[in-house]
Amino acid sequence: MGTPSVSVNLTEAELKLLQTLINQECGMYFDERRAHFLHDRLQRRLKATALDSFYSYYRLLTSREGKSELNSLLENLTVNETSFYRNKPQLELFQKTILEELLHRKQERRDWSLRVWSAGCSTGQEPYTLAMMIADALAYYYLRNPLPFEMPFPKPLIPPPWKVEILASDINYSVLRAAQEGMYPEHQMDPVEYTSRLRYFDKVNDKYAIKKGVKELVHFDFHNLKTEFLPQRNDIIFCRNVMIYFDEAEQKRLIEKFYRCLNSEGYLFVGHAESLFGLTDKFKMIHKDNGTAYQRLETNSHG
Ligand SMILES: C[S@@+](CC[C@H](N)C(=O)[O-])C[C@H]1O[C@@H](n2cnc3c(N)ncnc32)[C@H](O)[C@@H]1O
Repeated sequence: MGTPSVSVNLTEAELKLLQTLINQECGMYFDERRAHFLHDRLQRRLKATALDSFYSYYRLLTSREGKSELNSLLENLTVNETSFYRNKPQLELFQKTILEELLHRKQERRDWSLRVWSAGCSTGQEPYTLAMMIADALAYYYLRNPLPFEMPFPKPLIPPPWKVEILASDINYSVLRAAQEGMYPEHQMDPVEYTSRLRYFDKVNDKYAIKKGVKELVHFDFHNLKTEFLPQRNDIIFCRNVMIYFDEAEQKRLIEKFYRCLNSEGYLFVGHAESLFGLTDKFKMIHKDNGTAYQRLETNSHG
């Protein structure tokens, strides 16, 4: 270490080694079209670690001491693009149809809990959007379906006895830290209507800060979707624009895991350019006004 790095050109065999390692670690797959990006990020890491050959870097990555460098490489490879209220037609379907159905179904069973998981949450816009939409939907639902429970003062965001838990996870610690902080510049606020800005944000200097009440609904945590130990008993899973970076085998494995992580008749939302078509027969597609969701099918064979 300590010597300046030089630009390293990867042989095909070296590229394959790196692709395989990354795929094994996090499910992402860098095919020929994305090899250039992989190569660029590798150069950056070689520079940061002051190593001058692929071989010495690969040895570091696969050693016990190299765990944190492996994390840094993976962080450099993730695409973290996101926004508030991303894919509005799908969110309309979520709020107006699916939440409504779920709340009715739960109320009949006197189950007042709602558990939602945003898997691959990036800098937090997705889980905070869900928190705001759920708070709005529950307030409206409560108006039409009041319950004989004492309403505390000041009125909480989530009317009792309902309990909302939003778990938001990512493989990238830097985005998780930003998400936890929940401070957003003006230019990222375009999709947030002013009524929601007033209700759910404070203005701190030139940034919008998520209010404490919304923050308390969301719990951020590190989860690598490649592993088997994932959050269970979810009513709804959002995993949007994550699978698109995985190969087909990994997508199938992930969908199978989501199936197991969902409560019976739970819902899965994937990204606009993603689909479960041809990957599973364990979900039913729901499509309305340009919004798509998938519902877990319950048959004996699917257990
Ligand atoms: C393009 S962003 C999508 C953010 C948000 N879901 C949305 O649609 O706006 C993809 C996120 O998935 C995360 N990610 C990629 N591979 C992952 C893995 N194996 N486990 C957990 N998160 C992963 C990345 O770190 C990134 O923050």
